[in-house]
Amino acid sequence: MIAAVVSGFRRLFRENHRNRRADPRDDLASVIANAKINGDYLPEHDATSYYMIVATAGHDTTSSSTAGAVWGLAENPDEFAKVKANPS
Ligand code: HEM
Repeated sequence: MIAAVVSGFRRLFRENHRNRRADPRDDLASVIANAKINGDYLPEHDATSYYMIVATAGHDTTSSSTAGAVWGLAENPDEFAKVKANPS
């Protein structure tokens, strides 16, 4: 099961990698796809591994901390009122 998910991710990122190499945009994926070390592009396996790190490190963390924050504010209306009064 996990192997299927990981290979699905790798296939997705490989396609994305080739698209970003062919048509770079103003995004992190294009930076990774066009990065060079000593004049050589990053090997595709290394580049897709970077996409995997950013996707996993960047998704679970932000989604869980956002969910935790909303839950905390829902359970503490006084704190929620403070945030609404002063979002900064
Ligand atoms: C609330 C959001 C986040 C939290 C709480 C968080 C927390 C952390 C922590 C604690 C580490 C250190 C892990 C260790 O050394 O064992 C780490 C590393 C890392 N995080 Fe985050 N992170 C968050 C969001 C993100 C986002 C949005 C990205 C990317 C888009 C990201 C990418 C990374 C990467 C690539 C590393 C490894 C850095 C390295 O080893 O050089 N994180 N994060």
